[in-house]
Amino acid sequence: MHPDDEVCLCFHVTLRKIRHFLEREDPPVASLISECLGAGTGCMWCVPFLKHLHAQHTRGESPGLSISPQRYAEGRGDYRTTHARDPGVVREATGDPPGAGAAEHPGPVE
Ligand code: FES
Repeated sequence: MHPDDEVCLCFHVTLRKIRHFLEREDPPVASLISECLGAGTGCMWCVPFLKHLHAQHTRGESPGLSISPQRYAEGRGDYRTTHARDPGVVREATGDPPGAGAAEHPGPVE
């Protein structure tokens, strides 16, 4: 995913905006990313990805998602229909192994 691609599709919040927010605010919990233009407070598709970006930031890594914006948007389209995240999409974006990924945590950012 390119920095200008949107992580939160509901509120058009790009990866670049989230990176800058994390650098500037250094939020102690992922849920505070919602203060970045409301990211994660709409359909909630992006919540596990926001958590992943926050975790990367916390580890001192450059936050990013290893998925094309097309596949990410398709995953969100399916999510809005089925209300379930495709574990393959989550795994591809975050690199989390099965069972450790955010697909099992569809609820609000904690
Ligand atoms: S994509 Fe972020 S809340 Fe819908």
